[in-house]
Formats: sequence, C-alpha cells, structure tokens
Amino acid sequence: MSVPPPTEQTAGIAQSGPAGDPLAQPDPALTAFWAGQARQLHWERPWAEVLDWSDAPFAQWFSGGRLNVAYNCVDRHVAAGHGEQVAFHWEGEPGDTRTITYADLRREVCRTANALLSLGLTAGDRVAIQLPMIPEAVFAMLACARLGLPHSVVFGGFSPAALRSRIADAEAKLLITADGQYRRGTAVPMKDGTDEATADTPSIEHVLVVRRTGGEVAWTEGRDLWWHELVDAQSDTHEAEAFDAEHPLFILYTSGTTGSPKGILHTSGGYLTQAAYTHRTIFDHRPGDDVYWCTADIGWITGHTYIVYGPLANRATSVLYEGTPNTPHEGRHFEIIQKYGVSLYYTAPTLIRSFMKWGEELPGRYDLSTLRVLGSVGEPINPEAWRWYRKHLGADRTPVVDTWWQTETGAVMISPLPAEADAKPLKPGSAQAPLPGISAAVVNDRGEPVGRGESGYLVLDRPWPAMLRGIWGDEERFRETYWSRFARQGYYFAGDGARYDEDGDLWLLGRVDDVMNVSGHRISTAEVESALVAHPSVAEAAVVGAADATTGQAIVAFVVLRGDAQHDERDDGTDVVGPLRAHVAAEIGPIAKPRQIMVVPELPKTRSGKIMRRLLRDVADNREIGDVTTLADASVMASIQQGLADG
Ligand code: WTA
Repeated sequence: MSVPPPTEQTAGIAQSGPAGDPLAQPDPALTAFWAGQARQLHWERPWAEVLDWSDAPFAQWFSGGRLNVAYNCVDRHVAAGHGEQVAFHWEGEPGDTRTITYADLRREVCRTANALLSLGLTAGDRVAIQLPMIPEAVFAMLACARLGLPHSVVFGGFSPAALRSRIADAEAKLLITADGQYRRGTAVPMKDGTDEATADTPSIEHVLVVRRTGGEVAWTEGRDLWWHELVDAQSDTHEAEAFDAEHPLFILYTSGTTGSPKGILHTSGGYLTQAAYTHRTIFDHRPGDDVYWCTADIGWITGHTYIVYGPLANRATSVLYEGTPNTPHEGRHFEIIQKYGVSLYYTAPTLIRSFMKWGEELPGRYDLSTLRVLGSVGEPINPEAWRWYRKHLGADRTPVVDTWWQTETGAVMISPLPAEADAKPLKPGSAQAPLPGISAAVVNDRGEPVGRGESGYLVLDRPWPAMLRGIWGDEERFRETYWSRFARQGYYFAGDGARYDEDGDLWLLGRVDDVMNVSGHRISTAEVESALVAHPSVAEAAVVGAADATTGQAIVAFVVLRGDAQHDERDDGTDVVGPLRAHVAAEIGPIAKPRQIMVVPELPKTRSGKIMRRLLRDVADNREIGDVTTLADASVMASIQQGLADG
C-alpha cells in the first residue's frame, strides 16, 4: 500500500496527527506494511509487537524479535546456495582489483569477528573505524554487526581532531584503520593521523591496522596490531548469535547547524528492514542479474545503507571503488560501469555537475548500455543535471530516481519508484512522493498543512522503522533538534523546505536555513541555483541570502563558469553577469534576480561535497570568513577572495 498524495483541498491533512496528541500516533496500515517487509528477513525469534511508540519519540520496532544483521547480509545467502555469487567487485585506485563472493565474504567476516573476540570485545562495546574504501571496511562493519558491537565509521578525510572527538564521545575501545590510503594517485599516510587522534583517547585499548599502502608507520607495542597478522590467523567459521531487534547497530556522526557533531544512533531490525526494502524497490533490484554501484563513501550514511546493509541484505552484486572520480582520468566512472556492466548506479548531483563540466563527449566514449536505473541523493538535483544524467548516462531511457533522506532517517523516505514510472511519469528535480509505508507532509510555521502549489517545512508525521533512536548520550538534544519545532503535532522536523506542485508531487527545496526571504517572498537558494546552472555558461552555482536593508534578504550568487565561458570571461569579466541576471529573472521571475553575481574559480565544499553556504554568506555580507576547517580544500576561500579582489 502507498500513502496517497494530498488531494487538491487537503494537501497533507490526511496524514496529520490529531491535535493535542503528545506525538503523532502510528498508522496501523503503515505498521502492517512494515511487518510484511520485515518478514523477508531471517529472524531467530519473531517479534511480539511491530511498533511500540509508548516512549515516543524513542521508537521500538519489532520488539521482542531477535536477529543477526550480518547473518542476514551474508550467511543467509550462502546457506541458500548463492555462495559463488559475487558480492563485491572491488576496484582499487591504483588499478588493483579483488573479487569477493558471498562465500568469501562469510569467511572474511567470520575471521574478523573472531579477531575482535580475541581482543576481549563484548556486545555493546563501541568500535571506531576509519578506513579507505577497501574490502576490509565492509568486513569490519559486518564483523561488528555480527558481534553486536556498534560501529562508528569516521570518513577517511576527517581530521585527527574530528576522529578524536568521535572516539571520545562514543568511548570506543577499538579503532580499525590503515597505514595509508591512495588519494589522486599518491599514497598518503593515514595512521599518522589516527595516532595523533588516539594520543588522547583513554577508551582505546587497541588499534587494528590494515596494510594498504605499505608506508612506514609508527608502532605502539601492545596497542597496535596488524590486520594481516591478527585477522588472517583466525578460524574462518563463527556461529552468529541473534540480538534484540533494538540492539544498537551503529552510531554515525553528522554535523548539526551548530555545535559539535551529533552521534546519530541506529538499531538493528527496523533499520535493516527499511534498508533492504528501499534498496530493492527504488532500484528495482534483481539479485543475481543486476550489478549495482553506489559511489558514496562508507563514511557517510549512504555508504552504510546503500553500499553495505541494504544491498547485502538483498544479495546484490556491487562495485566497490576506492578512488576519486577523476583519477587517473575523468572517464574513470564510465570505464568502471563498462567494465563490470553496471546496471544500477547511485550517485550525487554534485558529481553529475562535475561530469557536465568535464564534457558530454566523455560518457559517449564508453558503453553504458547496461545502465537500467540511475539514482541521485544528497541534495536537490536541478532539472538541468537530472536531464543531463538521464541523457548522457541513461540514453534518455532509464528512470532517474531522486531519493530524499537523511542520516537521521536511516534510509530513503521520499523517491519515485522505477516500477511505477510508466504509470506515473518522472519529473526532473522532484522526489515526488513518500515511499509506501512512509508518511510525510509539508506544513507552515504553525504546523498546518499547506496546499498544492505552496511550500513550507517538510515533516515526517508517522514513525518509520529506520528512524534514528536518539543522539548518542544526549536525549535532550534529540528532543530539541527534531521534535520541538512541531511539538504540539508531534512531527519530526527534517530541517528541509519542500513544496507541493499542482499534481501534489513533492519538490525538496534544500535546508530551511538556506531559504531566503526577499521582500517577504520565500525563494529557495536551490531554485535560483537551478536556474543559473540551466544557463549554458554556468557549470556550478551557489546562492546565499545576504542581509539587505531594503528587502530583508537579497540574493547573492557565486558561479563557476563552464570551460568555454571561462575564456570569454577572462577578456571581460562583466560580460557574463548581466545576461545571467536576466536569465534568472526570466526563469523564475524578477523577484529572484540576484542582486549580485560573483564569478569564482571554485565553490567551497565539505569533504562530502556539500557547498558551504555559510562561508559564502560571509563573503556576501562582507564579513570575516568563518571557520574553514571542514572544507575539503581550505585554500578555496582564499582563491575566491583573491579573485574577487583582483576583479
Ligand atoms: C539533503 C544524505 C534534496 C537534505 C542521505 C537533507 C536532499 C540532507 C536529498 C541530509 C534529495 C538529501 N533532494 N535534498 N534527494 N537527499 N538531501 O544526512 O537537505 O548527509 O536534510 O543524508 O541532505 O544529508 P545527510
């Protein structure tokens, strides 16, 4: 069953909870749907209750049930006779490869689990993992899951200070890392950084080190252990024990709007149920036939749910790629798609826009005809990028699914389904509708549903199985961040703006903190950006709201020009700006015309590829630039300012 889109008169009303309730109550039809999905997993003991919401907003899904997540992702498939099916085609950055079947995976996970047991770890102990995109990262996560050790994976590009604070917050006993990693063709040290991080983390008892690059490393006897010595010596069998459905599976830190990163806590049965269901339906995944590739890093939620848990629960054959998309050349992804016959490809709009910048001849040089479904995640995808993606990767024939979700939601919540694409045409740039089993609404400031053609705040108004179970060690912050904004209605506040179109389809508008208010008109930064990148001269754009004495906020745009336009621009810097302002005015309306457009060489981005608008707002407002430590490339701001000063 599926939640119907809002009707003309009552957009959203059908899903809103009874006023005055402490928290919106579960819908029996939705919980029944999820019970059906959960039955597809292997449970050692069935649950007593599908959903216990009596301690809301702390949900208990499938309480009383017991299962082992790693057994479901690995052993179950081997037991069913699929041991020889490939689980991962791993492709290292320098070109080394490894093929891992489900039988191999089971042996590796068992060995790793036995190694962790030999270190004295017991269920509930936390394990920090900072690894490159190598098979050991998957083995480590699954070994933790198998033993009931919540893992905390920290993205490989994070600084020692960031790793230290995450280890300290979770009081992890073990850190799993590597000697080094390959970045853009060179071996760079990793253990130097993790040694710096663990110099001051009393909870860490051992550091387990994978040899990846073979570089020199400092060694702390008694604490540090080589993976190839400890793990490879273990038995390759291990009897998996079942854990409670609500046993913590992992903590994943994500940045909030302010303050320290939040440790988002996910548990086992509900998470795996929704991870598996969404991966299966969003990609129309057919085990044994499809070759699936999610290009995220394992350090992000997309890597957790759509590289590890969802695909493996569904017995997928996946590509796992270690490197960056333009190493050693800009056709690397297309080359890998061709090599393995990838049929399902899941990536982020920011990479699609890089592809656009690199030029459409590139995908044209490879055989991409195996591609069947294309997915997008992480930020609003502008229609221009959507169309380019579908045209140049999907031969204008594959569905493109724009999937909305968050670290906190654990799995996709809003997305079109390719199986329904014939009956319900896809719309470039729209995530369209909540998935079956999920309920969402768009509401105004007072928590009242908005109508078609209107925008507001996106809320989730019913509990869902993969929902976060809290912020590690901070119950109050959990309530405050997500449940206080619409406390009366009991909605989960996602922090995103959204709009219903005239058909009742959902359009995500970006974080509400990025929504501008110009002369009382709400304009999304994403909407203006989309207009800008639809212009042939523009490769990338970021828009911020700057303080304006007259209009409250004014729109300031930063644009990166495409190759050709860059050459014109050098001759006369003012050439491109006038037409671009006019273009935006023509696309959206005069109200959306940027007050200022600044041509810059690059946009400041975090390591996960998100544009740091906060820094651009500082430039737009002529303020001193704030903290740049989370930028992937800290020199970007300097080059932007230099360029603007020169201009
Ligand atoms: C944004 C990533 C528009 C959104 C899975 C959300 C999106 C935040 C989309 C979560 C999408 C993610 N369309 N915006 N399809 N997907 N977002 O926690 O603002 O890294 O709140 O999870 O990304 O980012 P996170």
